[in-house]
Amino acid sequence: MKILVTGASGFIGSHLKNKLREEGHEVYGMSRRPGQEFQADIRDTAKVVDFVRREGIQVVFHLSAALGSHPGGEEYIMDVNYRATRALAEALIPEPVKFVFFSSTGVHGNVPPGRPADEDSPLSPMSPYERSKALAEEAVMKARGRGLRAWIIRPGWVYGPGDRRTFKLFKFLMKNTPLPGNGRNHQHPIYIRDLVEASLKFLGEPPSPIYIISGDEILTVRELVRVACASFGCRQERVFFPVTPVLVASYPLRWFFSLMGREAPITPAKVSFFTVNREFSVERARRELGFSPAVDFARGTARAFEWYKRAGWL
Ligand SMILES: NC(=O)c1ccc[n+]([C@@H]2O[C@H](COP(=O)([O-])OP(=O)(O)OC[C@H]3O[C@@H](n4cnc5c(N)ncnc54)[C@H](OP(=O)(O)O)[C@@H]3O)[C@@H](O)[C@H]2O)c1
Repeated sequence: MKILVTGASGFIGSHLKNKLREEGHEVYGMSRRPGQEFQADIRDTAKVVDFVRREGIQVVFHLSAALGSHPGGEEYIMDVNYRATRALAEALIPEPVKFVFFSSTGVHGNVPPGRPADEDSPLSPMSPYERSKALAEEAVMKARGRGLRAWIIRPGWVYGPGDRRTFKLFKFLMKNTPLPGNGRNHQHPIYIRDLVEASLKFLGEPPSPIYIISGDEILTVRELVRVACASFGCRQERVFFPVTPVLVASYPLRWFFSLMGREAPITPAKVSFFTVNREFSVERARRELGFSPAVDFARGTARAFEWYKRAGWL
């Protein structure tokens, strides 16, 4: 198949593109920087649609996005993640193309402990990034209602080789410092290969429009520090301290760094890792797609550690 992957220079996009190529597809990567087959800003809808038409693209995996700690601020995040996605989805309605949008489980916000959210749970986005994804989902669903062959993937927290974002977390854990929060909120990780395998299912015709894709394990922050530190060689038991001072400091820090166009070392999005509860059900994906994550957090972090060492990041 002829496939366009937007965000192909990023963590997930690069893995997805490689896998699709291995499977024998004709894949075009898109990013703003040189190095991909197609260079464009996702906000330039006409250019992207023109490329899709000209090349006869059959499937668009739409991954390009400004992530949670992006220094561009709420307007920029809304532009890239919501308005550009809405414009692209609407413009592709008349085209004979499938559209697979990478949203985020973040659209569910802070999930009540012990009650994993599923695809039908109410959306409760809290940050600009999460709101932008929730709005983009709504736009994609509207376009689907008007004839676009569209699906939405909501990945959990994705980690693995090549991931710069989680790498910062691992580096932080390696400092062996006390951690903010109480360590009892849950996180729901998925190893990159499992997400990529699941993404291939969308080359078919999944029966539902939306799927949560995440791993088998839901861990408290205390548990995940223990497991990750077993691989990364850091202190497995930590003291936790109240999060409020860190959270309060994160707002002016984010503002200050954004003046220089840089991501702050501490942002509200990063702090939320230690406070917000993320628990999801992947039952629909198991049942309807035959999804079965293969890599647990212990093996995944060990593989990530080895990769970081080999790549000279550690
Ligand atoms: N990583 C996770 O844990 C996670 C979890 C849930 C959902 N997701 C979603 O999965 C997707 C991929 O995430 P990721 O972790 O791979 O992110 P990433 O590594 O930060 O990659 C983001 C990609 O988006 C591209 N991009 C950003 N702004 C753009 C613009 N204005 N025009 C064109 N391209 C633009 C970047 O390309 P250039 O900068 O080279 O242009 C890059 O290729 C995103 O939609 C994200 O919301 C990720």
